[in-house]
Amino acid sequence: MIQLRKPILHDGPNMFRLAKSAGTLDINSCYHYLLFCQKFASTCVVATQKRELTGFLTSFRDLDQPDTLFIWQIAVSELKRNRGIAKAMLNHLLQRHFDPEIYFIETTITPSNTASQALFRSLAKELQTEIKEQCIFEKELFSENGHEPEHLFRIGPLAHKSKGSFLT
Ligand SMILES: CC(C)(COP(=O)(O)OP(=O)(O)OC[C@H]1O[C@@H](n2cnc3c(N)ncnc32)[C@H](O)[C@@H]1OP(=O)(O)O)[C@@H](O)C(=O)NCCC(=O)NCCS
Repeated sequence: MIQLRKPILHDGPNMFRLAKSAGTLDINSCYHYLLFCQKFASTCVVATQKRELTGFLTSFRDLDQPDTLFIWQIAVSELKRNRGIAKAMLNHLLQRHFDPEIYFIETTITPSNTASQALFRSLAKELQTEIKEQCIFEKELFSENGHEPEHLFRIGPLAHKSKGSFLT
């Protein structure tokens, strides 16, 4: 059985490990994940099974657009993918109480990350709302060789609270 909750500080090192093993994520320092656990827990989610971390989501409220949550990273351990865990984490987050209310979700996705695109398109469809895509970071902005451009996906307005996802 998968459990969804806010992270605690001790989830940070496991989130760091999962991010490194996810394959497609930009890797931040362990400090970054500890900071999200301590300072942004109310906008983050961890998924656990038998106390083992199977997924995490980090996000924060956009201070320039307070009705918008920016999803920084979402990852599910490779063996547990395609079971609805990522979508359940997003739905779990949206069911929390926010003041002011959240009406939009934003995230950036690279053109080759079809799994992540499918996840957010599926969420928009389930929430019966729009999804808009535009390139916000051209590949030339990245100093590393070969980094793809990042496309902003904006989902909303969220007129209805999510009904939640079933986990298998
Ligand atoms: C992206 C990721 C988080 C999805 O996690 P997941 O738990 O497997 O996703 P879910 O099972 O909740 O799937 C949600 C939807 O996306 C679709 N989907 C998921 N992976 C897919 C894939 N590889 N190809 C096509 N569709 C896919 C599912 O079919 C589902 O659609 P549905 O609701 O219409 O049935 C996971 O693949 C991952 O951890 N990837 C590596 C990290 C990453 O790239 N994160 C995103 C960038 S921050």
